[in-house]
Amino acid sequence: MNLRDMTLDPPWLANFYDPALFDASAGDADSANTIAWYREQLRGPARQVLDIGCGTGRLALPLLEDGHRVHGVDISEAMLGYLAAKAEGLAPELRARLSWAHGSVLDEPLRSTFDTLVAADDFVTHFDLDQLRRFMAIAHAALRPGGQLLTDMRERSAARLAAAAAPFPKPLQSHGLAGGIAGEQGQLHVAMMGWEEYDPESRWLVSHQLYSFIDIHGHEARRDWKTIRQRNHSNAELLDAAQRAGFAVECSCGRELAGVPGEQGGFFQLIRS
Ligand SMILES: C[S@@+](CC[C@H](N)C(=O)[O-])C[C@H]1O[C@@H](n2cnc3c(N)ncnc32)[C@H](O)[C@@H]1O
Repeated sequence: MNLRDMTLDPPWLANFYDPALFDASAGDADSANTIAWYREQLRGPARQVLDIGCGTGRLALPLLEDGHRVHGVDISEAMLGYLAAKAEGLAPELRARLSWAHGSVLDEPLRSTFDTLVAADDFVTHFDLDQLRRFMAIAHAALRPGGQLLTDMRERSAARLAAAAAPFPKPLQSHGLAGGIAGEQGQLHVAMMGWEEYDPESRWLVSHQLYSFIDIHGHEARRDWKTIRQRNHSNAELLDAAQRAGFAVECSCGRELAGVPGEQGGFFQLIRS
């Protein structure tokens, strides 16, 4: 199996993040824990926060409420469009502390110096190892000395990865998005069916997700096939990339807030030298 070649086939990452689907599934337990962890780390005096891969503002907006100033960067115009719509509804005092830019963090020079950089919800798994190292160097340059980089990776169980590495036919995942999403003709129910492929050697994980959008009459209004490739970095690889860039590891913890991290996945607090 060569997942590198496979990923050249569309559909691919460019259309993966659908802001409506993203926000509709934002209530899962992992997401809620993730937002809570970042807010907790930033408790205290107001800071200048750079939110890399800010998406629809799921973390940025709570951080504004906590008194921080937030600049978001995201590669997806669709996700930023949702953020812009949410920003219109903000109280002027909060809106004044929010800005964003469209682009890849790997391409765009970051001109300001921030107190804290957040890269939330499995963001770093978008990168291969070289890109991860570049990202760490860019993050280091964007932070003031003593500033912090907060990031996380979702935990993927050995059983899940083994199932993904097994040949076809393989188990399917399925779920419905409670509440659905808003469509032009009203609310659409969303049913998702997916499967994963994993190459343990290269640590590339490919997730395929087929979405069926059902209208209020029970008819299928639309169908989407979305695919994302993520690199399942080990914690050792992540921390090594951070240390090479000049970060000290302040905290590396399991996703259960006080938990000990395993081989892969957890929350990471890195301090810029
Ligand atoms: C899993 S979502 C997380 C969004 C947000 N951090 C949150 O927790 O709600 C990942 C986001 O990263 C963005 N992204 C992926 N690669 C990127 C890159 N190279 N530069 C900037 N944003 C990127 C995607 O468009 C998407 O909005």
